[in-house]
Amino acid sequence: MTYLCTPTGPNQKWTYLNLSYKKKHYFPLSPYIKFDTDINWVKKLGKIRVFRCKICRDPYIGEEPPSRCPFCGALGCYFIPAEEWNPSEYIFEMSDISKANLNAALELELSNTAFYLCAMNAAKTNGDEYGYAKFKALKKVENEHANAILKFLKINQPQLKPVPCSKNFEKNTQEGWDREDRAIKAYAKFAKEAPEIQLRQFFESLVEIETDHLELHAENLKK
Ligand SMILES: [Fe+2]
Ligand SMILES: [Fe+2]
Ligand SMILES: [Zn+2]
Repeated sequence: MTYLCTPTGPNQKWTYLNLSYKKKHYFPLSPYIKFDTDINWVKKLGKIRVFRCKICRDPYIGEEPPSRCPFCGALGCYFIPAEEWNPSEYIFEMSDISKANLNAALELELSNTAFYLCAMNAAKTNGDEYGYAKFKALKKVENEHANAILKFLKINQPQLKPVPCSKNFEKNTQEGWDREDRAIKAYAKFAKEAPEIQLRQFFESLVEIETDHLELHAENLKK
C-alpha cells in the first residue's frame, strides 16, 4: 500500500494541506504532514506486524522490530513475533538470591525514576526543551524497568518517594551518569548471580540499556 510519508532532508516545514484530491488516492492519512519541495514524500511501506519485547513484555507494531524498545530501551534482538509469545517462560521457581537482587534493582529503578522526574521538571522550569525531553524519556524508561521488575516479583508499584535534584542541566547529567554507573555495576553482578536463565537475560539486558543511558550523559558532558 502507498502512504503519504513524512520526508527527510532540508527545507521541510509543517503545513496544512487541502488533501481532498490526494486523500482519494492515498487514504488514510493525516491532513498534517511534513513536506518539502522534493518529491520524496510518497514512499512504499511494507505490512505491519505485532512484536513483543522479551524484557518489558510490551507489544510493538511495525514492519520490523525497532533498534531499541520504545518502552524499556532493550535492544531490538529481544523482540519476537507476538504469535511466538510463550507466557510459561515467565513462570518459574525463583531463588532467594534473585528475589533479593530484584528488590535491590527495584529500589534503584524507583529512585532513578524519581530523580529523572525532578530533573525533567527543573529543565522545564528553565525553559530547556532538550533537557526536558531527555530527562522525561529517561524517567519513562526507568519507570518501565521498575514495572518489569514488579512483574517478576508479582507486587504492585509502591508510591514514588521524591528524590532531590539540581536546577542545573550539567549537574543533573553528572548525577544521571553516576546513577547509571551504579546501576550497571549492580546489574552485572545480579546477572552473574542469577541461577534462572530468564533473570540472567533480564539483568544482562538492563546492563546494555543503562550503558546506553550512561553514554548519552557522557556525550552531553563533553565540552
Ligand atoms: Fe533502568
Ligand atoms: Fe538508565
Ligand atoms: Zn521493552
